[in-house]
Amino acid sequence: MIVLGLTATNGLDEEVARLLGLEHVRVESKVFPDGESYIRIPVSVEGEDVIVVQSTYAPQDKHVLELLLAIDALRDLGARNIVAVVPYLAYARQDRRFREGEAISVKTLLKAIRSMGANALVVVEVHKEYVLRYFEGKAVNVKVAYALAEYFKDKGLDNVIVLAPDKGALPRAQLLAKLLGGEYDYLEKHRDRVTGEITVKPKTLSVKEREVIIVDDIISTGKTMALAARKALEDGALNVYAACAHALLVGNALKLLVESGIKEIVAANTVPVPSEVKVVNVAPLITEAIKQLGTL
Ligand code: R5P
Repeated sequence: MIVLGLTATNGLDEEVARLLGLEHVRVESKVFPDGESYIRIPVSVEGEDVIVVQSTYAPQDKHVLELLLAIDALRDLGARNIVAVVPYLAYARQDRRFREGEAISVKTLLKAIRSMGANALVVVEVHKEYVLRYFEGKAVNVKVAYALAEYFKDKGLDNVIVLAPDKGALPRAQLLAKLLGGEYDYLEKHRDRVTGEITVKPKTLSVKEREVIIVDDIISTGKTMALAARKALEDGALNVYAACAHALLVGNALKLLVESGIKEIVAANTVPVPSEVKVVNVAPLITEAIKQLGTL
């Protein structure tokens, strides 16, 4: 069995290979002058089980295509079983038709990974876990809460409340709160019908004089997190920590978060992040998930 690292791994390929005690191979890749991707598997994979690692952060389409090219090539070259490890699964938020006629992008992506020849899939904190049914093989969603809990336990915070930014994300807050022995709640959004102004507040619990952790799967523009943090601080929270799996931090997201008064931003190493972000390593959880897959 080998671990093949593709073009967007953020170091997780090497970490996973080290933890599993497997040979690590880096794919050969280049981009032609016209922008097309080239992939070459530099070792023989005939009869081998291959764990192929590719996160699909920006530029998403390039990284997605390179993943598909690699899986297809591995299949052609006689690999036995292929486990696709996709720490950040792009397109996960387009998981249904919000407007008539839309593509269900994550379905297309998961079907493509499967039909190129991946037997199994490991992802980290996918936006909605039910989408994994679109991958018709074994699939595991690694829960980042276990890594975040270790980080926050080490801080020894008292009187913690974990908040989800919306009702749909409540299970995320619930799991992290359970691991930390704290309470949890979600933020309810209110839109003023006259002014159009959006405000948020915890559904039932108070944040006054408490350590608040707001947990989400993704921080993209940072607007959701910044709004929630501002509100918690206005309501008397002692400190607000922003925790997530995938800190995409698009545009001026980091500035927005810092200006909102957030004490720390904590994220997994599924995507590259600036030095201001505290990073938790999800390689051990990915390794466990690979072991959990068992016989393919
Ligand atoms: C959406 O449903 C996700 O769970 C995140 O809440 C969202 O992607 C955050 O986006 P932004 O940082 O742009 O507010």
